[in-house]
Amino acid sequence: MNIINTGDILTRVIAVASGKGGVGKTTVTSNLGASLTEFGQRALVMDTNLTTPNLGFHLGVPLYPKTLHDVLKGEAYIDEAIYVHPSGLKVIPAGISMADLKSTNPKDLNKVVLDLVGDHDVVFLDSAAGLGRESVAGIESADELLVVTNPELPSVTDALKAIKLAEEMGTHVLGVVLNRVKGTKSELSVSDVESLLGYPVISKVPEDKVMLDSLAAKSPIVSYSPNSASSIELKRLAATLVGIDYQAPSAPKGPSFISKIFGFLKR
Ligand SMILES: Nc1ncnc2c1ncn2[C@@H]1O[C@H](COP(=O)(O)OP(=O)(O)OP(=O)(O)O)[C@@H](O)[C@H]1O
Ligand SMILES: [Mg+2]
Repeated sequence: MNIINTGDILTRVIAVASGKGGVGKTTVTSNLGASLTEFGQRALVMDTNLTTPNLGFHLGVPLYPKTLHDVLKGEAYIDEAIYVHPSGLKVIPAGISMADLKSTNPKDLNKVVLDLVGDHDVVFLDSAAGLGRESVAGIESADELLVVTNPELPSVTDALKAIKLAEEMGTHVLGVVLNRVKGTKSELSVSDVESLLGYPVISKVPEDKVMLDSLAAKSPIVSYSPNSASSIELKRLAATLVGIDYQAPSAPKGPSFISKIFGFLKR
């Protein structure tokens, strides 16, 4: 089953995974969540990276009293671990202490995810790097998978492993997000990636040097620099995922060169 239905309310649970670390999973997760919130959807993002969590840092979540780890340990209810970001986006951070790291079992993630069903339109699970127990548990707990990769062979081969895992678990693969595209000759092309992975590239997010500034400002780039090419692409992807029509802002139109010349001649 790809979409969990509780009565009239559908909750989509989408894992964002990659295999390889550092390719942009958390960036994609936080920006899709922020975009959907802007579109009026009830979106929640959860850090399922139990060993090296960082979703909270991307979104500027303060040291939060209750985290996913407390829920997994049975020491907090799920609602106590939901932080509401000023944008309205709901965030479940994971604990960052060494004690948290040792005391939880990723296998219990599934039960936590089930508790979220019904109250949100879309739940994004930000996966850990690698394909260890916590990533496997995240992919298994989700109905759908977004695979993030960079246009280079090591990250695409790892993405293939994440895809194979999802296929084995019956998690529907939505497609591939090709992140940090620079357009250089040495990069793998969209068709290379599609033929290696066997799934369509549903988004091509450009390399954006403002991404680092937005991380430092603890704000998703769709809020920090809403008209940048990467923001527009991430918003378009978010809209596509939920079937919303998204009109990208058009570039501001100043007077053309010819009209400037004519304006000058008329003086
Ligand atoms: N399109 C982009 N352009 C430029 N920098 C980017 C882009 N996407 C992500 N980054 C940067 O790459 C770094 C890694 O991104 P991110 O933390 O999202 O990766 P990750 O896959 O979640 O990493 P991990 O596997 O460690 O959890 C961050 O510094 C982020 O700002
Ligand atoms: Mg991450």
